[in-house]
Amino acid sequence: MVLVSGTGSLLQNIIDNQDNSYRVIKVVADKPCPGIERAQDAGIPAEVVPLGADRAQWNKDLVEAVGAADIVVSAGFMKILGAEFLASFEGRTINTHPALLPSFPGAHGVRDALAYGVKVTGSTVHFVDAGVDTGRIIAQRAITIEPEDDEASLHERIKSVERELIVQVLRAAHVQDQQLIIEI
Ligand code: GRF
Repeated sequence: MVLVSGTGSLLQNIIDNQDNSYRVIKVVADKPCPGIERAQDAGIPAEVVPLGADRAQWNKDLVEAVGAADIVVSAGFMKILGAEFLASFEGRTINTHPALLPSFPGAHGVRDALAYGVKVTGSTVHFVDAGVDTGRIIAQRAITIEPEDDEASLHERIKSVERELIVQVLRAAHVQDQQLIIEI
């Protein structure tokens, strides 16, 4: 089960690399977006669960939409998952973040790394907990920031690493007693 909010290029790579180690059973988004269209094009059930005024209810609706999935992957999903969602899926929900956590959490990890002037950044796959990008780290891959990089070029290079890393993590994952075990 994959959560998306936007372009869905990570989702596409997850779909394209399905094998007998994992299958995408559903895609859920918080708004209509190209990620939903990619799911539909691949014949995968897709659903939009828009965030309304009642955030607790939205989290419950998300739980309903996710349904029977073993693993939830947040791949470019730009909303914070709340307690009502984590009550059902904590320990089985992972996120891919475009920076080397714990540096540069939040919605602007690429921009913040560039602005700070670090020379190395990258991609982190981590468990989702109640904080913002604070859950236990599963895997990371670094890339070098080049002097000519701007936010767009850097993000694109990070995404090429993210696409590979998330597939690698999913291939190494299985669920035991409702907890995700990743042997990587
Ligand atoms: C990725 O960099 C992800 O880490 C971030 O949003 C981007 C999603 O890209 N949160 P896409 O929509 O899969 O192309």
